[in-house]
Amino acid sequence: MKFSSDTNKRLIDALTKQLNSFHNELAHRDVASKNLIAKDIELPNDGISFDNLNQHIAHNIQPNLSASNGGRYWGFVTGGANPVATYADWLVTTFNQNVSKGGDSIASSIEQQTLTWLCQLFELPLTFKGIFTTGATAANLLAAITARQYVGQQQGIDIAKSGMKHLDVNIFSATPHASMIKSLGLAGFGQESWQPIACNINSEAMDITALETALMGCSATSKIVIASAATVTGTDYDDLNAISKLCKKHNAWLHVDAAFGIFERLISGINGKTSGIEFADSITLDCHKWLNVPYDCGVFLTKHISLLQASCEVSAPYLAGTDSDIPFMSLGIENSRRFRAFPVWATLVTYGKSGIKQYIESNIRQAATLASWLDKSEKYVLLKPCELNVVLFKPNHARLNLTSDECIAKLNSTGQVFLTPGSWQGEPIIRAALSNWSTTDDDVQRVITTLNNL
Ligand SMILES: Cc1ncc(COP(=O)(O)O)c(C=O)c1O
Repeated sequence: MKFSSDTNKRLIDALTKQLNSFHNELAHRDVASKNLIAKDIELPNDGISFDNLNQHIAHNIQPNLSASNGGRYWGFVTGGANPVATYADWLVTTFNQNVSKGGDSIASSIEQQTLTWLCQLFELPLTFKGIFTTGATAANLLAAITARQYVGQQQGIDIAKSGMKHLDVNIFSATPHASMIKSLGLAGFGQESWQPIACNINSEAMDITALETALMGCSATSKIVIASAATVTGTDYDDLNAISKLCKKHNAWLHVDAAFGIFERLISGINGKTSGIEFADSITLDCHKWLNVPYDCGVFLTKHISLLQASCEVSAPYLAGTDSDIPFMSLGIENSRRFRAFPVWATLVTYGKSGIKQYIESNIRQAATLASWLDKSEKYVLLKPCELNVVLFKPNHARLNLTSDECIAKLNSTGQVFLTPGSWQGEPIIRAALSNWSTTDDDVQRVITTLNNL
């Protein structure tokens, strides 16, 4: 097969069929597939025809996918892909740019413009620079290695070059996301290297007095504080104004994981729950969550881009660029990089700030509707007032003789909803996270009926 206008037509016709059947099914299919195992097919020697490929996709792949792109997939924190971002993502594949060293295309400049727009969307200072990553986990890894370079600099060690054998550092956090802990391991600090700081009562947010005491009592030469805005279960926000003041006093690096919680800034502005994030040294954002662009799209921002570059610098004669090139390959994990900024660029330019705010507001309102129903229901216990988009609940054992895990399994097996577990104040619970632009009020009612019928 070669590309020609005929081929394009054939691809588009086939694509249209796949898209129509996928989207038509999305509202009706089971939210989670019951068949999780790929058909056992031998690797063909001569390959199959394009028509056969399409039949295979239509019969064996599509029907067994989840409806994670639809309105009732409420597990983890899962965004859908909005239509404009979906379209832009097809173009990304068609353009197939390698946004690595620059100097050959406008793509790097678009990535930079999109980063600036994100700062403007969230009213962050433009002193934040950064890079698009594969997700929030990769952004948290970049945070760990940039903080590592910073504390190395404090101790006269260029860690990227010499390693961290002699590094003397303490890391403090209250409720870091699991991906942050993973990142501490990947960055060489160790997954168990961080010192837990107590939380406020009935909250996952950091107790500021406990942090102050820990920093004052810390004899390590350097300090890193990892804050959350918001935590993935309780959607609790650390007090970033107070934390940033303490970090300044103790010369500590402040990283804020704001993967999805940053979107609260569109509702409450700069004096809301994220107030103080502007004082961070680095921030993680995640566009494939609440911005609703296709997967493979996180963002790392830092005010110390030269430290990020020092950590990720890659040089070889064949990679040499000019001074005016934007060296994304020296600012992140990968050398070769997808043009993943483009769906974000297209989303921002098409929906604008107000369009994005609308779908955030809608999810928050829908989560509140669900929480209010659960609160009144005799079958369930609402565990925490819902202030954002995540609802925490469990079965009421007086009415439902099920553990939370059993309850999740039963609810998910109806095909009407997909929920995932969590832990709240040490107890297994059920989480419902609403972050899909296409979730309708009818979807919420459908899930409420399913919950009620259990
Ligand atoms: C606060 C927070 N940080 C990081 C992550 C990891 O994101 P990703 O799966 O995009 O790597 C998540 C995912 O839910 C999150 O909620």
